[in-house]
Amino acid sequence: GKGTYDHYMLKEINHQPTALDNTIQGRALASDGRVVLEDFPPGTFHDHRTVHLVGCGTSYHAAMYAEKLLTDGDIQADAYRASEYDLQAEVTDDTLVVGVTQSGETADTLSALRSAKESGATVVTVTNVVGSTAAREADNALFIRAGPEIGVAATKTFSSQVVSLALLSQCILSDIEDATAHENIQSLLNSLQALPDHIDRVLESTRAEAIARRYADEEAYFFIGRGMANAVAKEGALKFKEITYEHAEGFAAGELKHGPLALVTDRTPVFAVFTGDEEQDSKTLNNAREAKTRGAPVISVAPPDHDSIGFADAHLEVPDTNPEWLGLLANVQLQLLSYHAADQLDRPIDKPRNLAKSVTVE
Ligand code: M6R
Repeated sequence: GKGTYDHYMLKEINHQPTALDNTIQGRALASDGRVVLEDFPPGTFHDHRTVHLVGCGTSYHAAMYAEKLLTDGDIQADAYRASEYDLQAEVTDDTLVVGVTQSGETADTLSALRSAKESGATVVTVTNVVGSTAAREADNALFIRAGPEIGVAATKTFSSQVVSLALLSQCILSDIEDATAHENIQSLLNSLQALPDHIDRVLESTRAEAIARRYADEEAYFFIGRGMANAVAKEGALKFKEITYEHAEGFAAGELKHGPLALVTDRTPVFAVFTGDEEQDSKTLNNAREAKTRGAPVISVAPPDHDSIGFADAHLEVPDTNPEWLGLLANVQLQLLSYHAADQLDRPIDKPRNLAKSVTVE
């Protein structure tokens, strides 16, 4: 049941530290600086040259996040929306296709994975459900171990997907020649081990409820970010529209000036997600400035002492850690923001209108 929580969504947001403990248990061996995935022994990915990450909705955003983790290691990786995969992707027999799907039953994703397999690709699924169609049909499965998710809005499964994909990425990076291993795997794994505590800190200290109240009843809500933070911006907007029914959009921060800026007014709060990369962040800060000049309130989602804080109208704080995990922590703040905004509007948070937990038609 929901226990002491008003909604499954809030319970599942709060369950993230435990879910992530389960996700990494026995897999991230910080003391010897290694990642061990039982079904993927060293050498598994030796023959692959290209990685395609495929999913829908929130799972697509996790795929986008992982695309960045892989390309940072000089691996050719691309995230695709499953429903567009056939139209866009070139699949060969050295392609590794990673199907990201919480339920393992999403029709668009299953169909993309089937066609990839027909083209000779190796198909791995990253899923929460043991015995799901995706797990049965794929060549191999990595289970994210987040525990059952009841709320239609995916929350803890996004975090567990990102971390599972990060672990898988480390295995891929160490198998593929020409790839650049993470410059400090030890510190990456240490900070991964600390991630459940960092999420706890966000959950205990968040100002998301106050900010949701302060910016309730505006015209539209924009979310911007670069790289991993672009994935988080898109995920923040998806969650927001899904459960509040308010108009929300997530943009690559640099795209704002190429059109969406025409919509920006003093009634369109802009949530700017930062990644801790100075060069990227200073550009995102400029983009946020362009919105503020048009009167928009800017809410910075960033670590303490970040350059954006003096300038922003409000701040959702993210604990300082390795850049790989900052986006995940920012996303927890945005989950809470959506939850509290929807709660104030009295929306049926766990079962939003027109939506189903698993979408079994194309
Ligand atoms: O079960 P899946 O991960 O394949 O589901 C994909 C999407 O339908 C799902 O993430 C959807 O976008 C969520 N309701 C978003 O919160």
